[in-house]
Amino acid sequence: MNDIFVPREAVEKQLEIASSLKDGADKKVCILTFGCQQNEADSEILSGLCQIAGYGETSEPKDADLILINTCAIREHAELKALSRTGQFKKLKEQNKDLLIGVCGCMAEQKERREALMKSYPYVDFVFGTDKLYMLPQMIKEAKKAKKRSVYISELPHNEFGIIAEGIPLRRNSSHKAKVSIMYGCDNFCTYCVVPYVRGRERSRESEKILAEVRELVENGYKDIMLLGQNVNSYNGDISFPKLLEKAGSMNGEYFLRFMTSHPKDASRELVEVIRDVPNVAKHFHLPVQSGNNRVLSAMNRRYTREKYLEKALEIKSLVPDITMTTDIICGFPTETEKEFLETVDIVKQVEFDMIFTFLYSPRPGTPAARMEDQIPHEEKVRRFELLSAVQNDIADKLNKKYVGRTVRVLCDSSVNGECSGRTSGNKIVNFDGKASVGSIVDVKITSSGAYILKGEEIYG
Ligand code: 5AD
Ligand code: SF4
Repeated sequence: MNDIFVPREAVEKQLEIASSLKDGADKKVCILTFGCQQNEADSEILSGLCQIAGYGETSEPKDADLILINTCAIREHAELKALSRTGQFKKLKEQNKDLLIGVCGCMAEQKERREALMKSYPYVDFVFGTDKLYMLPQMIKEAKKAKKRSVYISELPHNEFGIIAEGIPLRRNSSHKAKVSIMYGCDNFCTYCVVPYVRGRERSRESEKILAEVRELVENGYKDIMLLGQNVNSYNGDISFPKLLEKAGSMNGEYFLRFMTSHPKDASRELVEVIRDVPNVAKHFHLPVQSGNNRVLSAMNRRYTREKYLEKALEIKSLVPDITMTTDIICGFPTETEKEFLETVDIVKQVEFDMIFTFLYSPRPGTPAARMEDQIPHEEKVRRFELLSAVQNDIADKLNKKYVGRTVRVLCDSSVNGECSGRTSGNKIVNFDGKASVGSIVDVKITSSGAYILKGEEIYG
């Protein structure tokens, strides 16, 4: 168990290298992050290391001395976006030979992608895997000194075990919302998904470290804290995930404690009771269903049935009144028939999700589903996607109407000239008239609703 942790000395060595790179010059890093919250959390680690090395932050690549592109491999579209962005930096490198460019994230973990990147983008200085973030200072130092291109990747095949590097100070990108990684990797091997190949096996941080981080965030006024992992409810540290959630939600003061993302097979009754009973635990459950048909679920290797999912979802809704339920759905998984797809539409109608995230199936090289015969044509995937979106729209519209006339607690995310916007504990977006300051939680009376947004007025005193 212990050998998954990067030795303290190895992390400290990198922090020392980072400090030695600080030369008083006005340097800037531009970090472009694609994909999920895990990548956003990783970028905060990279940014933290850059801060020690004396780099300020910029969102403008042209103003940067160092550009880091944190890529995503979950769907082809995400890969293409990252590549096209990387392609735009050729000119910048021609204009500034000292500019350093690094590519990391899930694409870098795939051998063919990595090789293609190095070949097609000769101005990229270094490529590194998701296990090597903590070594960024060394990469910068070597790239500056040797002017030779390098690749830093786990020696283990397929990033087999993965590692955890503790003790790196993060540079967070918000002063009221924070992500806290609690576990990394995934062992589920859903047949469509690239994550287990690029993020390695499941590994969990110690609860003491996680809780210390949450405590510090709460003490520093953070109001929206998300426990993060590819499969948070498979958390396998020294205490159970429900216990961890309960403890993390029981610090002094009011805040929303979220978690993302969950697998239905691990959504226990105990977990639902913690959501119900601990006031700071956000009343939102994101529980990806992916499909509502048993044959497709089995072909996806999801390890639950339509009936089990329905039972769980309806139990959650009845135990926690007003909970927001959201889900992920894949349209056009290979071999999915129209009849099978209609069962997905049906489960959406039965559960009545507040929101669904619908994705067109995208074949991922190396995954079993990509090798399946009967791939569904693109237009058909789009048709199913649109049908599902229309059904969901009506459901969301209906569910949100019940908020009209009620007063809800809202964490304010933006406030300009009396027009504020924020989110409820259930993660509903609320636009409201008021004087709330960003990062405060206020009472808002809901006056109207749509499928995606509630509108209201702040209630004072
Ligand atoms: N194609 C389409 N969607 C996918 N997802 C994961 N892999 C794929 C794929 N190959 C979706 C799943 C998952 C979400 C994060 O992305 O719905 O829950
Ligand atoms: Fe991918 Fe399935 Fe793991 Fe989620 S649970 S990351 S969909 S393999």
